[in-house]
Amino acid sequence: MNNKKTANEKIRVGIIFGGRSVEHEVSLVSAASVIDALDKNKYDAVPIGIDPTGRWLSSSETLRMFKEKISTENEPEQILLPDPQKRSLVAIGSSGSAGKPIDVIFPLIHGTYGEDGSLQGLLELADIPYVGAGVLGSAVGMDKVIQKELLQQARIPVTPSVWFIFDIYKTQKKKIISEIERKLKYPLFIKPANSGSSVGISKAACRKELLDSIEQAALFDRKILVEQGVKNAREIECSVLGNDEPAASVLGEIVPSNDFYDYDAKYVDGKTTEFIPAKLPKQIAKKIQSYAISAFRVLDCSGLARVDFLVNRKINKITLNEINTIPGFTSISMYPKLWQASGLSYPDLLDKLIRLAIERHEAKKKLKTTYQPKNKWYK
Ligand SMILES: Nc1ncnc2c1ncn2[C@@H]1O[C@H](COP(=O)(O)OP(=O)(O)O)[C@@H](O)[C@H]1O
Ligand SMILES: [Mg+2]
Repeated sequence: MNNKKTANEKIRVGIIFGGRSVEHEVSLVSAASVIDALDKNKYDAVPIGIDPTGRWLSSSETLRMFKEKISTENEPEQILLPDPQKRSLVAIGSSGSAGKPIDVIFPLIHGTYGEDGSLQGLLELADIPYVGAGVLGSAVGMDKVIQKELLQQARIPVTPSVWFIFDIYKTQKKKIISEIERKLKYPLFIKPANSGSSVGISKAACRKELLDSIEQAALFDRKILVEQGVKNAREIECSVLGNDEPAASVLGEIVPSNDFYDYDAKYVDGKTTEFIPAKLPKQIAKKIQSYAISAFRVLDCSGLARVDFLVNRKINKITLNEINTIPGFTSISMYPKLWQASGLSYPDLLDKLIRLAIERHEAKKKLKTTYQPKNKWYK
């Protein structure tokens, strides 16, 4: 399919938001900001909402209905066909004729079924360029356990940890708890391996709290990660942008309003403070930026990622806490703010991300997907 645009044709950008994720609400705020900031002379924004049950809807009212929790039961459901010839949404129950093709998609679903590679897989099948990491980068970016293994192999410092499958823990509780207490020192952080916005994460100062925290994390994932807490931790974040040659932004520091940066401190309290740029010795900041870029490469990211670090306040010891392949994206979120402070405005950042998505897609298109064997051995 030829998707070259003439000079005055606008690029149709599908913004996917909502989703079957504990971060559904966060996503709505990110999507509203992007839709608002896209240059109307260059782009047509196509809102695509996925409701908490997984239904896809696409009308100018979808975002408002999700935000106001208005029932969407009677709204016509749309699907994205995994058909490279169509590259568009099709209304279920219609004659099956496809809508106007979408040129590029901006997935803005944080967490499960949006940031974990599953949505990216569908977009690959549909052959539509999309912003951000591909299937592999998204999947490893979402799984804190696999991510850690890869970072460790790349000699990027991470916190000591133990992980297990909850079903196995139920039958070997004593053994697993004693392994945790042998290898790690309290306080501990207990996390569902796939989590976001701190949902399901707790801090434990003793065994009783550890046991409770594991039960809590298990509500969100079958795989649980227990990490040693970083003492006197400063939270330092770095935005990375690019495909094969990514760049790192200036660093930002978050000072959470709570004991740690939990859901309320992130979104509800409004008391968390930020410092941009973060006050750090130059060589420590440089080291963090270089770890951020290495992590982006090792984890096979593209487009964008926010890389979060914990840095010991006294001795500036750096540990990489996690990578986010679809970071919060409102105009006042850390990811765009760090670029703003590095000289790239929010609308320019959107332009750049869309361009990167199209470039990556074009590069992939050049690869062969057919092979002509010497003889017809398969007949
Ligand atoms: N090992 C740790 N030591 C100290 N604080 C931690 C540790 N792990 C997590 N935290 C705190 O918990 C917050 C959420 O953890 P994180 O792994 O970033 O989960 P999420 O993916 O939900 O953001 C962090 O921002 C930090 O405040
Ligand atoms: Mg985090």
